[in-house]
Amino acid sequence: MDLDTSKLIDGNRVAESIYEELRAEIAELSGRAPRVVFIRVGEDPASRFYVSKKKKIALSIGAESDIVILPETITEEELIVKVKEFNKDDGTDGILVQAPLPKGISEANVFNSIDPKKDVDGFNVLNSGLLVQEDLESFAPCTPQGILELLKREKIETTGKHVVVIGRSLIVGKPMALLLARKHPQGNATVTICHSRSENLPEITKQADILVSAIGRPATVTADMVKEGAVVIDVGINRVDDPEAKKGYRIVGDVDFEAVVPLVSKITPVPGGVGPMTVATLMQNTLKAYKLRHSR
Ligand code: GUN
Repeated sequence: MDLDTSKLIDGNRVAESIYEELRAEIAELSGRAPRVVFIRVGEDPASRFYVSKKKKIALSIGAESDIVILPETITEEELIVKVKEFNKDDGTDGILVQAPLPKGISEANVFNSIDPKKDVDGFNVLNSGLLVQEDLESFAPCTPQGILELLKREKIETTGKHVVVIGRSLIVGKPMALLLARKHPQGNATVTICHSRSENLPEITKQADILVSAIGRPATVTADMVKEGAVVIDVGINRVDDPEAKKGYRIVGDVDFEAVVPLVSKITPVPGGVGPMTVATLMQNTLKAYKLRHSR
């Protein structure tokens, strides 16, 4: 089957155009460059990969960036002390603590210790609350915010549409639903949240004009779950064994891609769809944090 590439939403292209904009804006700043610090605990391979990628991109747009690597054995209290050092540091605009954290450390406690004005990930409880209050000055989590940006730049209308979100995580599902339900041109949607315990999932997803899957399980969204002409946003990043691949595995999303493509009007591929937008939004948030702190 030939793939109809006109249906694919190219996240890499959109992210690149955002980097161009940020690069130009940062080059015009007087004084020091925006600075984002990444805190990584332990040696989780995925975290190592993502954090080094984020730093590389930060440097490429003219921001400053450092990675702080802490041992797996660190306690929650010690980690929070480290976060608070960066809260106080006037030369740091953004702080990101990469999840997942080792067992025994409360991610919520750590995220809540980040200065809300430096919380470029948008996971601090104050920013979660401000999202509910529809405060546009706050930081929203990068992946759902990046999806809004992708929908906007692809001219995909959300007002009045039925969006079904599969997944209820702090990082994607819940903030995605809140953002889309906001009274805002990139919101105004009718939103349904589904999750692993939802009954009659296909019946619900089939009603979606826009279907967002963030459940983290391959082939969760099959052709019988998608309405003809729907927009499908695949947030999943899942490893599946593939003896033919060089590394012995390949990355797939949550969507049974080849079966679903013929049905959709637009779809994000994995990789190259939502993933690049998460990092692009993080960079936008870093510049936003810098401006917030320098406009006092
Ligand atoms: N782990 C997986 N996604 C994310 C993210 O967006 N931010 C952080 N801090 N950790 C993550």
